[in-house]
Amino acid sequence: MKTELNGKIVLITGATSGIGEATAKAFAGEGANLILIGRRKERLDNLAAELADKDGVKTLTRRLDVRDKNKVEEVINSLPDEWKKIDILVNNAGLGRGLNPLYEDNIDGWEEMIDTNVKGLLYVTRFVVPGMVERKSGHVINIGSIAGHEAYKGGGVYCATKHAVTAITRSLRLDLLGKGVRVSTVDPGMVETEFSLVRFYGDEQKAKKVYEGLTPLTGDDIAEAVIFCATRPPHANINEMIIMPSAQANAFFAHRKT
Ligand SMILES: NC(=O)c1ccc[n+]([C@@H]2O[C@H](COP(=O)([O-])OP(=O)(O)OC[C@H]3O[C@@H](n4cnc5c(N)ncnc54)[C@H](OP(=O)(O)O)[C@@H]3O)[C@@H](O)[C@H]2O)c1
Repeated sequence: MKTELNGKIVLITGATSGIGEATAKAFAGEGANLILIGRRKERLDNLAAELADKDGVKTLTRRLDVRDKNKVEEVINSLPDEWKKIDILVNNAGLGRGLNPLYEDNIDGWEEMIDTNVKGLLYVTRFVVPGMVERKSGHVINIGSIAGHEAYKGGGVYCATKHAVTAITRSLRLDLLGKGVRVSTVDPGMVETEFSLVRFYGDEQKAKKVYEGLTPLTGDDIAEAVIFCATRPPHANINEMIIMPSAQANAFFAHRKT
């Protein structure tokens, strides 16, 4: 069923897997046209072809590492005219690296997390939002995390980046007050995606263990929440939405069936 999202332009970062990919599929199901961003171009192109075929929506893919400030500026500012009026920005690209005590952790992983989760989100926002302000219309939906509300053992830098996303979201909402642009954040607990595989540098055993004995959320659960935020009437805004698996109480405590 098509809704008011029909024909809107939605830019999604990190659309090659997990939450971003599920969100792209959900928006396509509502008839939105999609700008899909990520580093794995083949995946972007396959997804774009699938959605154009299945849902009849228009798609545009851009291979982009959101850590590259100049490239972000170039990609956003050189969008074809028919794609320039972005209605909804979903800042989803992000990652965790390692789960080690801070004092013995891998510093390269810190740089990756800070550069992607914080600086990448800032760059994309900085170059997309001015157009929304000019048009007095738009919606920024950030994918934060429960790690943006709590700190957990071994998650020092990841939690810091997601606390930054919470702060950026709250500040941006103040900056945009009265300008016709809404700002929301959707903050998940455990979602089974490639996240843990990336966090543990491809170690499948470790990644699997994260979800052992419980039913985690899926990318579709989060995509549904994003669509809910995007379809509120103009006078209403979802500021922050925290979603957890029923088997998870907070960032540290989960009930596992043994
Ligand atoms: N899974 C969870 O439990 C969970 C919980 C709370 C919050 N989150 C957040 O949800 C978001 C999506 O994660 P996910 O769970 O869907 O993990 P995922 O399956 O690993 O997806 C991450 C996405 O981010 C993209 N990405 C990573 N670095 C990038 C970069 N430098 N430039 C452009 N794109 C980049 C990846 O695409 P390429 O590799 O192709 O670039 C991929 O599409 C992240 O912000 C994560 O922090 C996840």
